[in-house]
Amino acid sequence: MARILAFNGSPRKGGNTSTLIRNILDGARSEGADTQEVRLHEIDQKGCKGCLGCRTNPGTCAQKDGLSPFLEDIKNCDGLVVGCPIYMYRISGQMKLFIDRLYSLYADLPGGGYESLVPPGKTYALITTQGAPDPDQYKKSIRYLAGFTGSGLGFVEVGRIVHTNSHASPAEASPKLLACAYEIGRKLIKNNS
Ligand SMILES: Cc1cc2nc3c(=O)[nH]c(=O)nc-3n(C[C@H](O)[C@H](O)[C@H](O)COP(=O)(O)O)c2cc1C
Repeated sequence: MARILAFNGSPRKGGNTSTLIRNILDGARSEGADTQEVRLHEIDQKGCKGCLGCRTNPGTCAQKDGLSPFLEDIKNCDGLVVGCPIYMYRISGQMKLFIDRLYSLYADLPGGGYESLVPPGKTYALITTQGAPDPDQYKKSIRYLAGFTGSGLGFVEVGRIVHTNSHASPAEASPKLLACAYEIGRKLIKNNS
């Protein structure tokens, strides 16, 4: 059975990020997947302590906390979902703490640069949500988020939603957006991508 893991960078339980992740996971489950959502605000997630232990012991983060088992799970899952609101023009703080910890999944290459320690071929979907109407307004932040949590680790992106104008148009009120999220969830299961 395929296992889909979702990391939610929003602290709001009924918010837009949560709604869209829920619909993605519903879509994945409709294809027989086992799913789990990790709400970064609710686990005991500490920041990277800067020990650089993961440079000498690649694949292992020496910071032991509520995130530790989920960092391991990233290596074993079949697909990953990352969802995050835009806060003050950037990703949320909860998501930044998570990204710093992903350093442990990047190993140094002898000639410079990094290689992913996540086995290749896993699928990936991204959700961002923002109050502003222009989908390109935070494209640098979104590229950064997708790069470190997705393509940089070797995940293959099957779908992305940049939800805009979220105050006037919440995700819950848009059947089109919900259907799009559900369809992305189905695509996370390999045979459908
Ligand atoms: C602290 C804070 C800062 C925000 N900063 C921005 C911002 O810079 N640009 C923007 O378009 N929306 C901003 N927003 C709005 C959120 O991105 C928007 O409401 C989003 O849909 C929240 O996601 P959620 O519903 O999953 O919590 C901010 C919201 C909060 C709480």
